[in-house]
Amino acid sequence: MSNAPHYVIDVPAFWADPYPDLARMRRCAPIAFVPQLGSTVFTRRDDIFTQEKRIDVFSSHQPDGLMNVLMGHNMMRKDGDAHMSERAQMFPSVSPRAVRETWLAKFHAHAERILDELAPRRAADLVKAFALPFSAECLKDITGLTNISYQEMDAWSQAMIDGVANYTGDETIETRCHAATTGIDAAIDDMIPVLTKHPNNSILSVLLAAGQNMDSVRANVKLAISGGQNEPRDAVSAATWALLTHPDQLALIRDGRARWIDAFEEYARWITPIGMSPRRVAKPCRYGGIDFEPDDRVFFMFGSANRDEACFDEPDRFDITRDTQKSIAFGAGPHYCAGAFASRAMVADVALPSLFARLKGLRLDPSDPVRIGGWAFRGLLNLPVDWKVN
Ligand code: HEM
Repeated sequence: MSNAPHYVIDVPAFWADPYPDLARMRRCAPIAFVPQLGSTVFTRRDDIFTQEKRIDVFSSHQPDGLMNVLMGHNMMRKDGDAHMSERAQMFPSVSPRAVRETWLAKFHAHAERILDELAPRRAADLVKAFALPFSAECLKDITGLTNISYQEMDAWSQAMIDGVANYTGDETIETRCHAATTGIDAAIDDMIPVLTKHPNNSILSVLLAAGQNMDSVRANVKLAISGGQNEPRDAVSAATWALLTHPDQLALIRDGRARWIDAFEEYARWITPIGMSPRRVAKPCRYGGIDFEPDDRVFFMFGSANRDEACFDEPDRFDITRDTQKSIAFGAGPHYCAGAFASRAMVADVALPSLFARLKGLRLDPSDPVRIGGWAFRGLLNLPVDWKVN
């Protein structure tokens, strides 16, 4: 175990709002062992930015980790060439070109269809009524699993996320995770003949065409599902909430003084959808005055990095005019989010402008408070709103 100073957290309070503890850690113990998480956490942005690249020390290879055991060995849990070759095979499906030429039109079509149904309703919980189905329909296209429902996409994604965080071995959570991975495997089996006959730009199709071995194909499709549903969903709903609760910022966009992408990048800095990425210490090392031992677990706290006062003025303020270049919401090393281009298109090019254009007079429903939670994954649990119907 590392000899980092111990920092004790109250887990429910940390889930409700991790930012006060993270600020204290950045100030007093920027690399700290948190007993409740069984992990040494890095909280300062520049430490994470430099150390995430040292894959010989802070390795992604975690052979006994729950992700490997439950979802198969995907590229996010590999280092070096083994990682880069699988990442390169996925790239044609998530490249800026694929987003521009293949996915953008599909994203627009999904948003318009969902909004056509929603617009006459006057009021809704936008998490369930828009962000969730929109994100899932887009991800069905990107992964190639167009044979499943959007509800399955969301439920299976959540079941895998819960399974991977099931450190206490809760049997119900494990069973639900197995059901999700079995469902995904069956959906992959059904799509293989279709995509072999009619290849397209989806992840499943490009991995099959590249001749990736089937265990890795399955694991990487599951990775895209576990990492690609909640985050755009949470970014769409919570960036909408951030703009509704900061009307001065929304006005900047309406007046043409800021762009939707500014709102998305600042939202992802302010409330980072993936707050943490884990690593395993591969060899003894000393950094920041701390000695690390092999097999120590390390968490790079992206959510804390993005509130680091050394890099961002008044970091707790949502300000879409700020320079977000130092944000590491999508990571800072070789595992930089493969879906970043697609996410920007989904949220900033399609979801936010379509929502605010179609739902006139959009406002929060004051009778039903918004709930927000999480530190590893953080997002809104509900977004009750209403709008005007002509
Ligand atoms: C707002 C949306 C999203 C955010 C904030 C986000 C964030 C992240 C983060 C923080 C990582 C880990 C980076 C690291 O450890 O350095 C990651 C990895 C990854 N993400 Fe995303 N993600 C988003 C959407 C997506 C989508 C839509 C997809 C699917 C198309 C996706 C696929 C992946 C994959 C495959 C990896 C692993 C990359 C690798 O190991 O090389 N993500 N993402």
